[in-house]
Amino acid sequence: MAWWCFASVTPGLEESLAAELSELGVEGRTETGGVLFQAELPVLYRVQLRSRVAARVTVRVGRFRADQYDALATRVRQLPWKRFVHPRQPLVVRATSHQSRLRHRDAVERKVSLAIGDSLKGPRLPGPRPPREPALVVVRAVKDMVDISVDASGDGLHRRGWRKATGRAPIRENLAAGILWRAGWRPGEPLVDPMCGSGTFAIEAACWARGLAPGRGRSFACERWPTHDRKAWQREVSRAGGGRVRTPILAADRSGEAVRDARSNARRAGIHDDVSWEVSTASKLEPPGRLGEGDKPGLVVVNPPYGKRLETGNASRVYRDLGRALRAHWRGWRLAVLVPDRRLLGPLGISGLESETQFRNGGVRVSLAVGLIGDGA
Ligand SMILES: C[S@@+](CC[C@H](N)C(=O)[O-])C[C@H]1O[C@@H](n2cnc3c(N)ncnc32)[C@H](O)[C@@H]1O
Repeated sequence: MAWWCFASVTPGLEESLAAELSELGVEGRTETGGVLFQAELPVLYRVQLRSRVAARVTVRVGRFRADQYDALATRVRQLPWKRFVHPRQPLVVRATSHQSRLRHRDAVERKVSLAIGDSLKGPRLPGPRPPREPALVVVRAVKDMVDISVDASGDGLHRRGWRKATGRAPIRENLAAGILWRAGWRPGEPLVDPMCGSGTFAIEAACWARGLAPGRGRSFACERWPTHDRKAWQREVSRAGGGRVRTPILAADRSGEAVRDARSNARRAGIHDDVSWEVSTASKLEPPGRLGEGDKPGLVVVNPPYGKRLETGNASRVYRDLGRALRAHWRGWRLAVLVPDRRLLGPLGISGLESETQFRNGGVRVSLAVGLIGDGA
């Protein structure tokens, strides 16, 4: 049976997610904040295990018109909850409402929660205990149309399981992957992150180049569904890896502590030796002789520190120094740089950067600028 599924992502990176899903054989419709697609369980499993860019996947249980709380409860009771929720499993319902008569979020959440409980009632059967983890149900009411979905992911998909040590402003793993997609990076192209912090870009890229599925080391809410198909799951798990592509990757930071943390993250991810690690300021870092014979310039990806999240003193000085270093040592390489304010592209002084993609990173609006590092401004 095919279900409507929604893979979400930070608004701004929907096209990257749609392109990635298409490579996984899933054609969907891009909407604000994600991609809507129809899938049977094996394909849902594949997306969860292998999408690097998605933040979460939900499955639509029902969609109907309702403008009264009792009508809402009646419709919710008729939905196939037994497929997704165990009797007596704890339940968390989160509702949003826009231009709808069901305007009180709390009331919607209470009604839906009670109605799901009613629909799961029945004689108490012997068998395994219900999972302790709550099932998450998401309700969206927009202009009296109600969309009810159940979460298939559990923890956000950015939680790959390798991150323990974080710098002060790590980028989420799925955002890092989305940025690499947006910048057109693919395994095989050399990658350098001169301000690597906890190592997110380098680790994501190295796992990708090794063909390691991002979901290989974690569990998902859909594994706890009463209708979970273990055989189909195992099939997708066994297909989820493979296809290593040799890819030179260099990660550096001026902070020895950051590099130490990044290296222990990389060890947990199983790709430590696929990355060259260096403690260096960006101004001293150069394309290394470590690039192998025949390697062409690749992509410099950089997420410099900025005001709100890190006390940097003078942000424009950081960007000016970075720009100077990039022009001096990295001419001919492509650049993907995150800027909290497009005016900082001025001090960066790299001409021809396109700054189209905007999204939120840890609550801060940022732009992603991509282009070629040439001679000057
Ligand atoms: C926003 S954090 C990068 C976060 C990283 N993308 C992650 O996911 O963890 C910025 C990093 O730049 C480093 N940094 C700041 N100025 C630097 C410089 N001049 N050269 C090298 N690294 C620098 C900081 O130590 C910090 O780890």
